[in-house]
Amino acid sequence: MDLQKSGVLAGLLVLLLPLLLPGLFSLLSHASPSAFSEWNVQKPRHLSLVKSASQRETSHEKQSDLWVPLADQGWRPCVESTNAPSALPVKSEGYLQVFLDGGLNQQRMGICDAVAVAKILNATLVIPHFEVNPVWQDSSSFMDIFDVDHFIDVLKNDILIVKELPDEFSWSTREYYATAIRDTRIKMAPVHASANWYLDNVLPVLQSYGIAAISPFSHRLTFDNLPMDIQRLRCKVNFQALVFVPHIRALGDALVSRLRYPSKGAKVLSTDYLGETTDVIDENRARKFVVIHLRFDKDMAAHSACDFGGGKAEKLALAKYRQVIWQGRVLNSQFTDEELRSQGRCPLTPEEIGLLLAALGFDNSTRLYLASHKVYGGKARISTLRKLFPLMEDKKSLASSEERTQIKGKASLLAAVDYYVGLHSDIFISASPGNMHNALVSVSG
Ligand SMILES: *[C@@H]1O[C@H](CO)[C@@H](O)[C@H](O)[C@H]1NC(C)=O
Ligand SMILES: *[C@@H]1O[C@H](CO)[C@@H](O)[C@H](O)[C@H]1NC(C)=O
Repeated sequence: MDLQKSGVLAGLLVLLLPLLLPGLFSLLSHASPSAFSEWNVQKPRHLSLVKSASQRETSHEKQSDLWVPLADQGWRPCVESTNAPSALPVKSEGYLQVFLDGGLNQQRMGICDAVAVAKILNATLVIPHFEVNPVWQDSSSFMDIFDVDHFIDVLKNDILIVKELPDEFSWSTREYYATAIRDTRIKMAPVHASANWYLDNVLPVLQSYGIAAISPFSHRLTFDNLPMDIQRLRCKVNFQALVFVPHIRALGDALVSRLRYPSKGAKVLSTDYLGETTDVIDENRARKFVVIHLRFDKDMAAHSACDFGGGKAEKLALAKYRQVIWQGRVLNSQFTDEELRSQGRCPLTPEEIGLLLAALGFDNSTRLYLASHKVYGGKARISTLRKLFPLMEDKKSLASSEERTQIKGKASLLAAVDYYVGLHSDIFISASPGNMHNALVSVSG
């Protein structure tokens, strides 16, 4: 609960940033590493643990136990296969517009909520607008990431959806709402608002103006006491309506296949060359792999106010970041590192995640896929994890630079590829509870 709260708080702070500090992020991100640098973390922090972890051997029995799927513990899929479509509204009450903040997975949750709210209100949903996130800086739109025609088609018996507003409402843009107070903007939707809140507060706006724009909208619909059909519809959006555009799926499939058949690439080449197939049975056996989702960016490291073992340079760098971004007002700063750790408030470093995986019984023959954006501290920060798990891959190591051209520098598309690989993995482990974790765990579970 605490974690969730501080996550929301951090999210809010991040949302406010573009208003407060335009241009600051680009300034920070272009600062180059220097000799006196936070980028030189070398020594493992937990040396003796790392030593014993790297010498461990796990029996075959224990190894194969690890890959056995967990019992369902009573969890059931939230989308029923015999899903009778709910009836479309006889008449639309108006257009519902939402502007979604956050990274890809937070936006994904927002889309599920937007469809649910459109259903509650009998409104016509306008394909959601994605805000550019100040940390990830990606301007990809809904249609750049998700297959929009599939989305509309899957939901065609549930709600009305339009790609764009008709001309008479074309004034209702993000810019229009950014420049003044407007009657059609719903600005004060409380976090986890109920269905009745929407009926009481948004329906009248729709009925008066024919349109309502809700912003901010992240986490604005409750999970408690929602009518079952609305909750099911939300699931249908997440698990059926939202699929990535074909080029993301194709790249994801290629990466998954390279993880499962590590030496096939080479084999196909030589087959072509010789014009005949040589059977290497062992190479055709599908391997299993673990996806580990690691979020360890500078923003998060600084905001936690924890000590990550990088010495004075790192401490100074993080303190400076806190000063610049939050004017030093970071709740965790009032605690010592020890206090923060014992309260469980420190994100795990890559090294600590390596130790955790080793303790679970994974050994150096385990194939790992690292789902991650920029890791604070770069290669040096990951080196211990890589030593423990030499068969560690990521999208960069598995895809050619040609394959990566379409997603390069686009945080949301990169996250989409990681999500896709995570979805097709044997084991998904999240080292940071958050939106990706929430969106994925129920799918693979
Ligand atoms: C894995 O660890 C074992 C035992 O410590 C070692 O003999 C082996 O060379 C290691 N394998 C790899 C791929 O590093
Ligand atoms: C939405 O439409 C359904 C079916 O036509 C109707 O029963 C319900 O009262 C409507 N709700 C609103 C908020 O208009």
